[in-house]
Amino acid sequence: MNVVALPAVKGDYNLTNYDETYKHFDWKDVEKEFTWSETGKVNLAYEAIDRHAEGFRKNKVALYYSDDSRDEKYTFKDLKELTNKAGNVLKEYGGVEKGDRVFIFMPRSPELYFALLGAVKLGAVVGPLFEAFMEGAVRDRLEDSEAKVLVTTPALLDRVPVDKLPALKTIFLVGRDIKEDEKQIDFLKHLADASKQLELEWVDRMDGLILHYTSGSTGKPKGVLHVHNAMIQHYQTAKWVLDLKEEDVYWCTADPGWVTGTSYGIFAPWLTGTSNVIVGGRFKPEDWYKTIEKFGVTVWYSAPTAFRMLMGAGDEIIKKHDLTSLRHVLSVGEPLNPEVIRWGKKVFGQRIHDTWWMTETGAHLICNYPSMNIKPGSMGKPIPGVEAAIVDDQGNVLPPNRMGNLAIKKGWPSMMQTIWNNEPKYQSYFFPNGWYVSGDSAYMDEDGYFWFQGRVDDVIMTSGERVGPFEVESKLIEHPAVAEAGVIGKPDPVRGEIIKAFVALMDGYEESDELKEEIRQFVKNGLAAHSAPREIEFRDKLPKTRSGKIMRRVLKAWELDLPAGDLSTMED
Ligand code: PRX
Repeated sequence: MNVVALPAVKGDYNLTNYDETYKHFDWKDVEKEFTWSETGKVNLAYEAIDRHAEGFRKNKVALYYSDDSRDEKYTFKDLKELTNKAGNVLKEYGGVEKGDRVFIFMPRSPELYFALLGAVKLGAVVGPLFEAFMEGAVRDRLEDSEAKVLVTTPALLDRVPVDKLPALKTIFLVGRDIKEDEKQIDFLKHLADASKQLELEWVDRMDGLILHYTSGSTGKPKGVLHVHNAMIQHYQTAKWVLDLKEEDVYWCTADPGWVTGTSYGIFAPWLTGTSNVIVGGRFKPEDWYKTIEKFGVTVWYSAPTAFRMLMGAGDEIIKKHDLTSLRHVLSVGEPLNPEVIRWGKKVFGQRIHDTWWMTETGAHLICNYPSMNIKPGSMGKPIPGVEAAIVDDQGNVLPPNRMGNLAIKKGWPSMMQTIWNNEPKYQSYFFPNGWYVSGDSAYMDEDGYFWFQGRVDDVIMTSGERVGPFEVESKLIEHPAVAEAGVIGKPDPVRGEIIKAFVALMDGYEESDELKEEIRQFVKNGLAAHSAPREIEFRDKLPKTRSGKIMRRVLKAWELDLPAGDLSTMED
């Protein structure tokens, strides 16, 4: 095969001439960066790993991994072999074929990444699950996607209701002393023995790549399906927005259970042949600064809550570390306060660059580029190739400085392909005239900068994680003491929002702090720690519509002491 090595820097990657680039840019030109534009053979894992392993980046470090007990590095050649091995194990012992759903439910470790890319090499659709998910959350996702194979650890296996998941045929366990049977396979044992050669599965650009479950304001989490074609945008935004260059050492702090941790924790850095840092374990300010110092991180992508926590930990710890390697810092997931940008400038000598996008959009859409004049508090401008506007509730474009729905013209390369098993839900995102409606409200100023105002729906963003109130309410009412529950996001200076639950108790239950704590734990153990309400307030009765729907808008008004608005639909 003709191996095309990626050029280190090409074209106007710094977007110094944004307006001109915006006018003339065509996504088609990016296709030339991939081997498939010549060979016709498509697979994202080939472009992210194998092509580098076969070219001049062969011995370049692709992955620096560290946690409390491990400290390892892997070249692109190593990664090619290890992902091939993982692919062979999944195929041989799990029968994985193109289109099968392979779920990965484990803490960050090199093996997670081998398994994920090994599955992609087989043309499977990968579903990464955040390690904090508990049984209910795991079950919903495996059931909806009819996952055939799961890669997990012995410790997390308790949370997988295997006998309730008929589609699940094989479970690979990553750990020591694994007892194998028909269904359970020792992943590491077979990884060690597997062949380094793998026949890659070539796919169509529009074939499924990854499924990320995410929350809306109603219903269970929905599976957002992304396809291999998304690599076009991952690659280009890695250049424009992350500003990745050949010599960079890049660190994205997100877990691959969330879209940032795949699009920008795996795909974007490796598609551009960048050395990627991945750190296991939990957030600790001191450890984070150590990571930057130890690896000489140059480009760092994190989230407002993390920056605010670092800010809260004080600047004294910063002085103990050499952070001068940093040259570009970015943020995503929640509004980035101007105060945090000022702090970043003071302590890192860098302005933090905000980026806006969503699980559904697959990649960056509205951003601050390195060359751009940042207006603190604004998310920036649409990248070339993306048309953004503020539209009213009928889909008409509004003039500058008017608040409305933040919308994107359909057709960017990394757009979700569908909602798994729910095409009507997918269709509901679009106005008939082709605008994708994000669910965020915003306005655009006269210079074309976009300013985030809030969610239009009841979706809660807590510590950068997206939580659907319905999922939490459903879990709350499973508790025997809970008669009714309504959940809202309450503004919080560090976490953006916290989850607050209003609960009406069943007859015969007494209000108490112990009961609050018990209910909190019940949600935590049933869904995930980040979905458990930090505050619970008991009320005799909750505001409902005549059709019985909890009116979260009224709960929010109670909480924030605001006017409750139109109450005509409320029951007496
Ligand atoms: O409300 C917006 C907020 O996060 C939502 C998307 O969440 P999720 O799908 O979990 O993806 C997060 C990471 C890609 C958006 O609808 N959001 C994301 N980025 C920003 C933001 N809010 C304000 N500013 C941002 N930069």
